[in-house]
Amino acid sequence: MRNQFNRVAALPLLVLAASAISGCVDQKVVYRDRALFENPPSAADSFLGYSDQSSKLVVCGNCHVEKQAEWVQTKHASAWADLQASGHAQSSCEPCHSVSSNGNLTTGDVGYTATGDARYQDVQCESCHGPGLEHVTNPTIQTEPLAPLSVGTDLTTGCGECHQGAHEPFVDEWAQSAHSTLVSVAADRAECQSCHTGEGALAAWGVRTNFAEKASLGTGNHLPIVCGVCHDPHGGPNAHQLRYPLDDPSLDNNLCMKCHQRNGNPDPTSSRGPHSPQGPLLLGTAGWWPPGLTGPFVGTHGTPSANPQLCARCHVSRFTVTDAATGDFQFQATGHLFVAIPCLDSIGEPTANDNCTMAQRTFAACTGSGCHASQDVARSAMATAEARTAQLITQIDTLLAQVPSTEFSTTDNRYTVAEGAKFNRDLAAMAGAPVHNPFLVESLLIASINALETTYNLSGSPNVSLKPMFKHLATNGN
Ligand code: HEC
Ligand code: HEC
Ligand code: HEC
Ligand code: HEC
Ligand code: HEC
Ligand code: HEC
Ligand code: HEC
Ligand code: HEC
Repeated sequence: MRNQFNRVAALPLLVLAASAISGCVDQKVVYRDRALFENPPSAADSFLGYSDQSSKLVVCGNCHVEKQAEWVQTKHASAWADLQASGHAQSSCEPCHSVSSNGNLTTGDVGYTATGDARYQDVQCESCHGPGLEHVTNPTIQTEPLAPLSVGTDLTTGCGECHQGAHEPFVDEWAQSAHSTLVSVAADRAECQSCHTGEGALAAWGVRTNFAEKASLGTGNHLPIVCGVCHDPHGGPNAHQLRYPLDDPSLDNNLCMKCHQRNGNPDPTSSRGPHSPQGPLLLGTAGWWPPGLTGPFVGTHGTPSANPQLCARCHVSRFTVTDAATGDFQFQATGHLFVAIPCLDSIGEPTANDNCTMAQRTFAACTGSGCHASQDVARSAMATAEARTAQLITQIDTLLAQVPSTEFSTTDNRYTVAEGAKFNRDLAAMAGAPVHNPFLVESLLIASINALETTYNLSGSPNVSLKPMFKHLATNGN
């Protein structure tokens, strides 16, 4: 059937604006009144590639003009030229720098790897969407080539088919990260899905486009936080094709904070403590603020002029691992474990295994560009902040133990000083809290101690010795 069409001739010129009813996409589809492509070689298996390679006009881009305009500015559009310029180009490199079966639902030799035809150079629309011949000759809903969003942990689906291996181990690292797993108690509940499932986050952010898995998702079957949640496959205004900026100190607009902000402040109607409070903590607004406490308490880590990448500076950190003896390249860490101070394995690669001491963790993310002078300086700053926090937590625990249990009742419609102090205590005890904002954490704990003493007539908070509160203190014996 598909080989009957040599070219798409004389389609009427027509512009379809976004549906005025839904109003949520601004995609324009334009029909052109000229031939869109040369008949593709049959070995290409219905992949079309470029319409005009010199201007980087993809066949798809003739009609999908806005997608074309975005994509042409991404690095995907220069993948072939960059490969050639590297001076190391060889045939084994080509499947990831051209249109092939990588990234879409086909397998075997197709597109460039089947034909060597220049029209298939670069990572084009069809790299992700798959072959377009049928759709282009008959652009209806039935023929739309939909791109996958899922990232198989076997590394054979979607973005991960190319973004893998020692040089580009994005998917290898992501697959070990918390973002690749679903929290089962949250995934099936509508009120949790905007942060806990990939498709729920995209829907909440107004991305209501169609993709390969969409129709099959539902109860018991969800996407985790896949690449295409944080990255816009087509590009856009932010660096690295990110859907939201990293440097905006805003809970509504910062990529990480859009999710990491569920309960930074107490919810008086719920007994649940802090829940992903990292955004409000970094920005200095988290916690229960006893009467009289006035801020702001924002540290260097939460100040964009000092730390422009905010969360990502510490949690998405790229560094190269070389052989200790020879200095040869070994592994390019991409930061896609999303761990700030990961443990290193025997050859120095970061791992998701969290079972190591402070000394065995890399603090590489903390050095450079005017940040901490060395890894050891950062390591000891963190140890100090954790120790001070642990000491205050111990004092609060001693006081809380003396407060009558009725003060913690969840059914009395009161939010008491004891409940507030408990919230601050739990906030401070979360991993990373003393690093995210030591000033706020200490201020909240000290104000809570004072409020407990005054309210419940307790006095002389005991001068306690240090109790290991954080996993590092526990493993380190600090
Ligand atoms: C001749 C014009 C034309 C070309 C060329 C074209 N498309 Fe389309 N495409 C359309 C039209 C028109 C629609 C909307 C169809 C409908 O809603 O019935 C569409 C819809 C789509 C959709 C689904 C959009 C949605 O809202 O669900 C995708 C995905 C898509 N095209 C991808 C591609 C890709 C990839 C290529 C290149 C291989 C391509 N298109 C080439 C005209 C075109
Ligand atoms: C066919 C292989 C292939 C597929 C599939 C693919 N990529 Fe890429 N990607 C590349 C190559 C090659 C580059 C580097 C191009 C260059 O720099 O010359 C790249 C570059 C990028 C960059 C640019 C980084 C920067 O510094 O701006 C981002 C982001 C990216 N890809 C994300 C994705 C996402 C998200 C997906 C899936 C939705 C994806 N890629 C699918 C091969 C692929
Ligand atoms: C498994 C897929 C894959 C293979 C095979 C592959 N690359 Fe890439 N390459 C990528 C991806 C993905 C990126 C983008 C990484 C990023 O943006 O950090 C990339 C980026 C690049 C870049 C541009 C980014 C930079 O480092 O400046 C060059 C140059 C490059 N590759 C050269 C090569 C060469 C040479 C080979 C063969 C020896 C090769 N690639 C084989 C996937 C691949
Ligand atoms: C790196 C992979 C990748 C590349 C390259 C890519 N797309 Fe997509 N595309 C996707 C994914 C994933 C989705 C669904 C999620 C989204 O829209 O962000 C999608 C969605 C779409 C849609 C659906 C929009 C809607 O309203 O439903 C259209 C149309 C589309 N792409 C066209 C294109 C065209 C045209 C190009 C090339 C100029 C292109 N894509 C390049 C992965 C890609
Ligand atoms: C939770 C959000 C998130 C997810 C999920 C995610 N990324 Fe990223 N990615 C980022 C951030 C943030 C950066 C920018 C880091 C920086 O600027 O230093 C980035 C950078 C990149 C870059 C450019 C790095 C460079 O320096 O060249 C590529 C390529 C990339 N990601 C690919 C992927 C792929 C492939 C996946 C899925 C396996 C993925 N990302 C999943 C947040 C994410
Ligand atoms: C779409 C929502 C979303 C976005 C965007 C997001 N995250 Fe997450 N993140 C989550 C969820 C949900 C979890 C918990 C997943 C689990 O435990 O299975 C998580 C877990 C984490 C964890 C591990 C926590 C643990 O307990 O081990 C870190 C660290 C993290 N995210 C950092 C980041 C950073 C940094 C960014 C921005 C680059 C980011 N996240 C963007 C939703 C998101
Ligand atoms: C505003 C975004 C958001 C919403 C909505 C949200 N969460 Fe979360 N949740 C997160 C983030 C981000 C994390 C990971 C960071 C952390 O652990 O501090 C997380 C962590 C969790 C964890 C701990 C996961 C682990 O690693 O053990 C559980 C359990 C959880 N959420 C349950 C829920 C439930 C149930 C709902 C719905 C009633 C919900 N969440 C709604 C953002 C959200
Ligand atoms: C100055 C560096 C830095 C910044 C900025 C930063 N973090 Fe952290 N974060 C850390 C450190 C260090 C830890 C503690 C890790 C540990 O204990 O293993 C941590 C812990 C976490 C954890 C808990 C991880 C776990 O293992 O349970 C989450 C989730 C998290 N951060 C998310 C974020 C988010 C979201 C942002 C931005 C709002 C952010 N962080 C900003 C350094 C930072």
